Amino acid sequence: MSAQIERTLVIVKPDGFRRGLTGEVLRRIEAKGYTLAALDIRTPDRERLEQHYAEHVGKPFYEPLVEFMSSGPATFVIVEGQRCIEGFRSLAGATDPTKALPGTIRGDLGRDWGEKVQANIVHGSDSAESAEREIGIWFSRA
Ligand code: RTP
Ligand code: MG
Repeated sequence: MSAQIERTLVIVKPDGFRRGLTGEVLRRIEAKGYTLAALDIRTPDRERLEQHYAEHVGKPFYEPLVEFMSSGPATFVIVEGQRCIEGFRSLAGATDPTKALPGTIRGDLGRDWGEKVQANIVHGSDSAESAEREIGIWFSRA
């Protein structure tokens, strides 16, 4: 693997999975030219969600977030490509789907549903360190 090739962890969250948007998210990742290196569908367990979202412990949206993320199946994807960490964050758009620009996953496909937490279809790692940490959490065991 060349030194410039990055890996990022993408999750099609339970709202995206329920709405049948996994294929659309994967299509956009592939259309951008990134590679799918691993795929796994499963309902996230609380123990690993607590590790994954450790930086948000204590915030008002933390408990609703863990509850939402464990509410059903999600698709975990390892994506590879040059600058794919930043690139996927651009594809995803702003955290708040109402503010996310058209053309982005959240801007085109997301909206405010009046839930306690922003149901915004996808997660993408925010740095190389986060990506390796998150891939270690979700892909270390079957
Ligand atoms: P992500 O980690 O899922 O890729 O999203 P992000 O970086 O854009 O957002 P982050 O600040 O890391 O927050 C993680 C997830 O928590 C939910 N959230 N809800 N005020 C709210 O209701 C609120 N703030 C954050 C979202 O699902 C967000 O993606
Ligand atoms: Mg984040």
